[in-house]
Amino acid sequence: MNILFLISEVEDIIKTGGLADVGKALPIALQERGHKVIIVLPLYKALSDGVGMATAMPEQVLHVHNQAYHFGVKQLDLHGLDVYFVDHPYFSHNASPYSEEGSSNAQRFAMFSLAALKIARELNFKPDIVHTHDWHTSIANYFIKSNYLQRHTLIDDAAFFASTKTVLTIHNAAFQGVCALSQVPILDAYAHTQVNTDNGYLNLLKTGIVYADRICPVSPSYAKEIQDHIGSHGIADVIHQAPHKVFGILNGCDYSQWDPSTDTLIPHNYSADNLEGKAKCKSALQKQAKLKAQKSIPLFGMVCRATQQKGFGYLMPILSDFLQHRVQLVIMGTGDPVITQELHQIAEKHADRFTFIEAFSPEFAHLIEAGSDFFLMPSEFEPCGLNQMYSLAYGTIPIVREVGGLADTVIDAQYENATGFVFKDPTPLALLNCLRKIVLISQEQPQVIAKMQERGMATRFTWERAAQQYEMVYED
Ligand code: GLC
Repeated sequence: MNILFLISEVEDIIKTGGLADVGKALPIALQERGHKVIIVLPLYKALSDGVGMATAMPEQVLHVHNQAYHFGVKQLDLHGLDVYFVDHPYFSHNASPYSEEGSSNAQRFAMFSLAALKIARELNFKPDIVHTHDWHTSIANYFIKSNYLQRHTLIDDAAFFASTKTVLTIHNAAFQGVCALSQVPILDAYAHTQVNTDNGYLNLLKTGIVYADRICPVSPSYAKEIQDHIGSHGIADVIHQAPHKVFGILNGCDYSQWDPSTDTLIPHNYSADNLEGKAKCKSALQKQAKLKAQKSIPLFGMVCRATQQKGFGYLMPILSDFLQHRVQLVIMGTGDPVITQELHQIAEKHADRFTFIEAFSPEFAHLIEAGSDFFLMPSEFEPCGLNQMYSLAYGTIPIVREVGGLADTVIDAQYENATGFVFKDPTPLALLNCLRKIVLISQEQPQVIAKMQERGMATRFTWERAAQQYEMVYED
């Protein structure tokens, strides 16, 4: 199939979060299954030096009611994939991908989505599927499925996209791209009657949902949660209009980057057969985190953005209590200053047990995964989550809340085939009880923990499986 892949981040090109991992791994996996995938990205300021890119075609223009949007088109090869870039001041002049200098994000990404469709037309690349991701590109579904392109004669061949189907992957429905219609001049009055609005505000994600043929949240549990009023961030109503369109597909894990036997970022490699290297990574982590190098003390790690989503609302109230136990904890992350300041304060009080590193370093992230005994992910919500998959591969027992992709990837200690610890209630007390249970089990039944570790290390979440499931959705 011909797949036009519209996403705002692709790892190795531009990355601010987990979205970029999918932006690279999924197109590669689809290509390996024989599909032709073209990715289109905005040419952000960080990329505007154009290193390694070629000019793909002459300057293009979109005329939309008396306004002309001129843009350049660059091209780059990424692991055999064709990546095209839309070069327009909306992106090349803004400090960061999502900063709204001058124009609203809705206007910027709507223009980008139109430009991407124009590029496909110019390349004569007739997509079977336009695959959009999150609020950034979801309005492309509207442009394909409505008469917008014809009304503005934006492409010369009215039938070009006539048989194209649209798929929307939802990575995080908490962000919906909401914006006053007056801030989106690329949409005319007629479009205002067709897109999803609330009180004069456009909602890009909901618009994308309405015009998608299929909707794929990034895990089966998240697919259920977004149909539920509590977990849907307010999109349940539009989803309920067509629930048959929803298919949760769990993301894969990139084991070429995350395998402890080949990882070049950790000081000692290891595998399930020989965990000596893991013990050495633990001492290296203790040393680097300025904690006492003790083999027997349970070491807990956590790497994430310091935001509410990640469960700091449950962790903060109980952190000092938890640190009364014979444990060590290392947290690395940046984000909300209210959270990071409190973490610094608690770390000062319990310097012998807890180190907080306010930074993000890939090397240290890998060392925390390899050197910790347990990995904390008490998320409020987690559409998929990647670190729990890394933890399983690294023999580091994940501790997760039963939500989204966490619930789909970690099997709780109460079951025979357990790989981690899962707590359910969204409360600090539920987390504390879970942590206390772990401290007890690791002292009294280390063999139980070893068994879980062994099972976790044998677990695989491949991109090949995810790509196969997307292929089924595309075919459908
Ligand atoms: C978002 C979600 C995360 C998911 C990632 C990739 O960052 O918060 O759970 O793993 O997208 O789909």
